[in-house]
Amino acid sequence: MRSPWFLFAVVNIYLQDAVAFKVHRLDKTGQCQERIMHFKDYVVQQGEPTVLKCPILHYNHLNFNTASNLSLHLKWYKNDSKNEITGVDSRIQAQEDLLWFFPARLDDFGYYACVLRNSSFCIEVTISLTVVKNNDVALQDIAYRQDVFTLTSDHIVCPDLTDFITNVRDLDLRWYKESVLLPQLSKKFEYVVGTNKLNINDVSPADGGFYTCELGFTHQGKRYHITRVIQLHTIEQEKRNHPVIVYPNHKSIEAALGSKLIIPCKVFTGFGRNSGTVVWWLANNTFVDRNSLPDGRVTEGEFQKMTENDRNYIVVQLIFLEIREEDFQTDFKCIARNEYGSQVLPAQLRKTVPVFSWYTVVVPAALICLIVGVMCLYKFRKSRAQKDYIQAKS
Ligand SMILES: *[C@@H]1O[C@H](CO)[C@@H](O)[C@H](O)[C@H]1NC(C)=O
Ligand SMILES: *[C@@H]1O[C@H](CO)[C@@H](O)[C@H](O)[C@H]1NC(C)=O
Ligand SMILES: *[C@@H]1O[C@H](CO)[C@@H](O)[C@H](O)[C@H]1NC(C)=O
Ligand SMILES: *[C@@H]1O[C@H](CO)[C@@H](O)[C@H](O)[C@H]1NC(C)=O
Repeated sequence: MRSPWFLFAVVNIYLQDAVAFKVHRLDKTGQCQERIMHFKDYVVQQGEPTVLKCPILHYNHLNFNTASNLSLHLKWYKNDSKNEITGVDSRIQAQEDLLWFFPARLDDFGYYACVLRNSSFCIEVTISLTVVKNNDVALQDIAYRQDVFTLTSDHIVCPDLTDFITNVRDLDLRWYKESVLLPQLSKKFEYVVGTNKLNINDVSPADGGFYTCELGFTHQGKRYHITRVIQLHTIEQEKRNHPVIVYPNHKSIEAALGSKLIIPCKVFTGFGRNSGTVVWWLANNTFVDRNSLPDGRVTEGEFQKMTENDRNYIVVQLIFLEIREEDFQTDFKCIARNEYGSQVLPAQLRKTVPVFSWYTVVVPAALICLIVGVMCLYKFRKSRAQKDYIQAKS
């Protein structure tokens, strides 16, 4: 019989591994080296088909070779379950970087992880999903923000439909403003048939507010409606050259201790005019740049330009290599400025349970139970052996 010290040594090694995993992200027992909490919460309506898109391709600075067949390398999981979501004919289906719900139910809420793995490396991105009752929802919680300038004729776009549309020409939408169905053509509005656009003539501040677009969708003989809510902001003509920060908004951002987080500061710059706009981040009112924190744990990303729904934006990311406790006490702010004006918006972090940390907690606990058990057994055996010896002697 080996001494219990041998088992103590084993436990010690496991505990060290657990700690090392937290600090250096070693990949023992299949945990990923790169664990990212996606900044955006998905909020969807109960009863509607929904699709989560694995944002792994957004984190492509890792240069993971995704050109090959994704479905061979990408897996989906719910919460801390180790069971892969596969289902072909089930309500929830994983197809490469998409996770489909036909339809979403209230109990689907929780965390979903997509994991991309090759033989030596692994990235895990966690997404938070909230499912809301359709008649019991604050519109701003599910709305997509869009901006238009007053005194122009412009359009809004029914967003995020690409995965549901097979043939764009068949696109048949209905548009509502504050739940009133809009006619196909009026003085103010015009459906742009065969597209996802609604024209708005001569925009005035009164045109701001909530719009809903609705798409009919059939899956396996069942008819569904997919709705998108747009919160339209009107920007006065005089402010057309001012930078407008559209993200972060005033909602807090979920962050998990120990995981990576990337928050974009997204600035609307109108239609091609970015008028020398500069965008930067502050942490407790000091600059976040490559040199501000000696360990480089929190940095600012490159200046990027992007186009979305026919609008131009500038994006500068705030990158946390690993979320620590102090980040919840720090004031992060994004600032956008050009010669016409400036805007400042805070990004508040909200602590979330680290959903995939079972390894660090469960394994040592299980081992401690095991060792206590084995030690008891060892003691019991030893005392029995002594008894036997005493009995044999007498
Ligand atoms: C796995 O991916 C990592 C990260 O992109 C890469 O450095 C490594 O070469 C890949 N390994 C194999 C075997 O493809
Ligand atoms: C990718 O792999 C899956 C599963 O092996 C297979 O069903 C699918 O046809 C492949 N797709 C392509 C484009 O090779
Ligand atoms: C998933 O996570 C949510 C939120 O933490 C929790 O309420 C729910 O019970 C979890 N579901 C499972 C199956 O663990
Ligand atoms: C910011 O200030 C708070 C206290 O006001 C402090 O707890 C936190 O550590 C500071 N953060 C940084 C990055 O210095």
